[in-house]
Amino acid sequence: TIRQRLLVVANRLPVSAVRRGEESWTLEISAGGLVSALLGVKEVEARWIGWAGVNVPDEAGQNALTRALAEKRCIPVFLDEDLVHQYYNGYCNNILWPLFHYLGLPQEDRLATTRSFQSQFAAYKKANQMFADVVNQHYEEGDVVWCHDYHLMFLPECLKKHNSSMKVGWFLHTPFPSSEIHRTLPSRSELLRAVLAADLVGFHTYDYARHFVSACTRILGLEGTPDGVEDQGRLTRVSAFPIGIDSERFIRALEIPKVQEHIRELKERFAGRKVMLGVDRLDMIKGIPQKILAFEKFLEENPYWREKVVLLQIAVPTRTDVPEYQKLTSQVHEIVGRINGRFGTLIAVPIHHLDRSLDFHALCALYAVTDIALVTSLRDGMNLVSYEFVACQDAKKGVLILSEFAGAAQSLGAGAILVNPWNVTEVAAAIGQALNMSAEEREKRHRHNFHHVTTHTAQEWAETFVSELNDTVIEAQLRI
Ligand code: UDP
Ligand code: G6P
Repeated sequence: TIRQRLLVVANRLPVSAVRRGEESWTLEISAGGLVSALLGVKEVEARWIGWAGVNVPDEAGQNALTRALAEKRCIPVFLDEDLVHQYYNGYCNNILWPLFHYLGLPQEDRLATTRSFQSQFAAYKKANQMFADVVNQHYEEGDVVWCHDYHLMFLPECLKKHNSSMKVGWFLHTPFPSSEIHRTLPSRSELLRAVLAADLVGFHTYDYARHFVSACTRILGLEGTPDGVEDQGRLTRVSAFPIGIDSERFIRALEIPKVQEHIRELKERFAGRKVMLGVDRLDMIKGIPQKILAFEKFLEENPYWREKVVLLQIAVPTRTDVPEYQKLTSQVHEIVGRINGRFGTLIAVPIHHLDRSLDFHALCALYAVTDIALVTSLRDGMNLVSYEFVACQDAKKGVLILSEFAGAAQSLGAGAILVNPWNVTEVAAAIGQALNMSAEEREKRHRHNFHHVTTHTAQEWAETFVSELNDTVIEAQLRI
């Protein structure tokens, strides 16, 4: 267990605030893999620093929210509306996010000279400095500061400039793309240098770590070593730390009477049909249209299955102020409507599409009754939904169809059916293969994945990262 004080800094706090009155707030659990994974880390004396997801222009509101968050060990960074627009909607989610997932730069922002790019990048740096200011206010000597994700690539540099003896780690929850992709980013060098200020830099897979090191060697001309990146005798350690989940939490949840009741209801509701499940934030990277079109192709080619299978797609709304996400929402609605019109009958529709989030217990029940989970990400840092599904399947031993472009393909590949989500024919065939798979083969595949998910936990992931960060700092002191 980790005794040291840990400051976890991420754009998104584990709880998001909703205002109920001038000084009254309610807190809701935030969605997404980063928050789920970090909530799975228990035995750490951790404090969180981040954005509560709301604009709070008034001091009374800020003070009240700060107090409410303190009970959850959370410390807010207040970002005003314009900054959120430029930093979060703009630079983070319209530029870095699509680029890191190989979706390219938005056309209108392709030139560094365009005004929007420049001002968004300036806002990004400004926001990172605001996070650093809050860290500095709360930092005590000996603390470990763990920065997370693409929102905070400048944070290591901001922190080290202020205090070079601070122990700073940075972890990326998305893929790090090939250096050929990173090269297209107008601010490519500044971002790499800022990250390199950290003592330890972590990624989910070796490929992402390797891409980062080659971006530093090719773009910055620095030296890559087996341990990381070297700049004038100073080493930044770079390594892979694949994340996991708190599998026990899911396994235990299935025993709760309320969840079992829910499981019974779902079984009754879908009796006589095989249940296929998708759980994703409604994000371009998740390949939701591709998934639904593959399902359509399967129905088209397999009339026998038409009334015997149902696809439940949970699409959690996300980043709804970014135009690309709005476009995706209407695109998905259109496809779902068309397919339900085409294959629906008076008594059954093939696709149940839910545009909202589910609470933890409802989600566990859904995972447990599912016959086939469909994860079709076009790119995905890890994808924890696939892990959570496996954790809830020890009774049913359902099949996981998993994109080869998710980080999870490297850990669950032997148990899952791996697919290229762009190949609709291949995904449709995988659905057929999964539906017809023998019980023995399902059991064998499940056992492999279940073993992995229950032995590679979020807790160990965090402990390994923090202890490696401590070691790195000690080694660096010995080198001087
Ligand atoms: N999740 C959630 N609310 C929901 C459905 C799912 O918070 O209504 C969680 C899910 O349990 C998982 C996370 O969101 O832990 C998604 O993580 P993943 O790594 O699969 O993808 P990300 O959203 O981080 O891209
Ligand atoms: C991904 C990112 C996280 C982010 C989450 C939800 O998992 O890696 O950093 O928190 O998506 O997105 P949001 O924009 O709502 O924080």
